[in-house]
Amino acid sequence: MTKARIIGTGCYLPERVLSNLDLEKMVETSDEWILSRTGMKERRLARSDEYTSDMGYEAAVKAIEAAKISPEEVDLILVATLTPDYVFPSTACLLQARLKAVNAAAIDVQAACTGYIYALSQAKAYIESGLYKNVLIVASEKLSSIINYKDRNTCVLFGDGASACVVSGRGDGLVVRDVCLGADGELAELLILPAGGCRQPASAQTLCEDLHYLQMDGKETYKHAVRRMEQASKQCLDRVGLGESEISWIVPHQANIRIIEGIAKRFAVPMERVYLTIHKYGNTSASSIGIALDELLREKGVGEGENILLMAFGAGLTWGASILTLEKERLS
Ligand SMILES: CC(C)(COP(=O)(O)OP(=O)(O)OC[C@H]1O[C@@H](n2cnc3c(N)ncnc32)[C@H](O)[C@@H]1OP(=O)(O)O)[C@@H](O)C(=O)NCCC(=O)NCCS
Repeated sequence: MTKARIIGTGCYLPERVLSNLDLEKMVETSDEWILSRTGMKERRLARSDEYTSDMGYEAAVKAIEAAKISPEEVDLILVATLTPDYVFPSTACLLQARLKAVNAAAIDVQAACTGYIYALSQAKAYIESGLYKNVLIVASEKLSSIINYKDRNTCVLFGDGASACVVSGRGDGLVVRDVCLGADGELAELLILPAGGCRQPASAQTLCEDLHYLQMDGKETYKHAVRRMEQASKQCLDRVGLGESEISWIVPHQANIRIIEGIAKRFAVPMERVYLTIHKYGNTSASSIGIALDELLREKGVGEGENILLMAFGAGLTWGASILTLEKERLS
């Protein structure tokens, strides 16, 4: 059977840095509070004229280059985002035009911070079924466009950025061994953008009431995060037949260092084997795992046979995990 594998990755972070010290000047908070409660020191913000599709484009170009394919060889573009340029048309279509990926179909995936892993499971299915040869996943977020910079409960947590990868049936790369997904819509209101959809279309009143900004019950969300990521990851390890000691790297969603430390403890993986970007980029939602994976591959390198455990959690609620193993292509 064809094995889906990630054959190229890329990421893009905007230049502008928003530090904890900058935030101290905007809301009643402190560098000490943010660092000790979240592990974040700074995050990046897109320019006012830089959008989700622009950041996604930069990441996509790098991933396509790394995969050594041309844009015309991409069969499908999946864009994971909760901050699309428009409600419609999809950001995937905007990217398809900009990349000149003239043979690609294009669709957005909305699974909040779990978007990268949801898209990975779709790419795996398309590749392994033989329907497509190359799927481009782009995860990009301009979260600063939905953050209330007067709300200290949320504005310290999030940043902008993008990541991408090419999933293919051929070439050396990270084999997507398995993907385990979950959702619980009963908890939809824990993390929500209340207005702008058909329930509460934009109006003077929704603007007045700040309903176009992300709202979150941080404490409740936190409780579910650790439990759900642990559950999906264990299920994935079981299905693949891997033991916890065989995990070379954990690449977790970068939402809170305490959540990440809790996870590492549960899997008895030392923190040196958990790849972190949270201190410099904060939580970049769907793009966070892809940014961390790209940096891990470029900065640390991964050896043949090493196993990477991805895990994420987000609004919906949604959660997921995936196991990747570096394998050189074997032609039989
Ligand atoms: C948001 C989060 C960092 C808050 O940390 P916490 O330790 O749970 O803090 P609490 O919510 O208990 O708040 C403690 C106090 O700090 C205050 N506080 C909140 N944000 C603050 C800030 N930026 N600076 C200073 N104080 C702040 C609260 O108002 C509260 O004050 P009170 O006790 O007087 O009411 C944490 O709950 C979290 O990370 N949750 C999960 C978020 C997540 O994963 N979201 C995305 C999913 S993709």
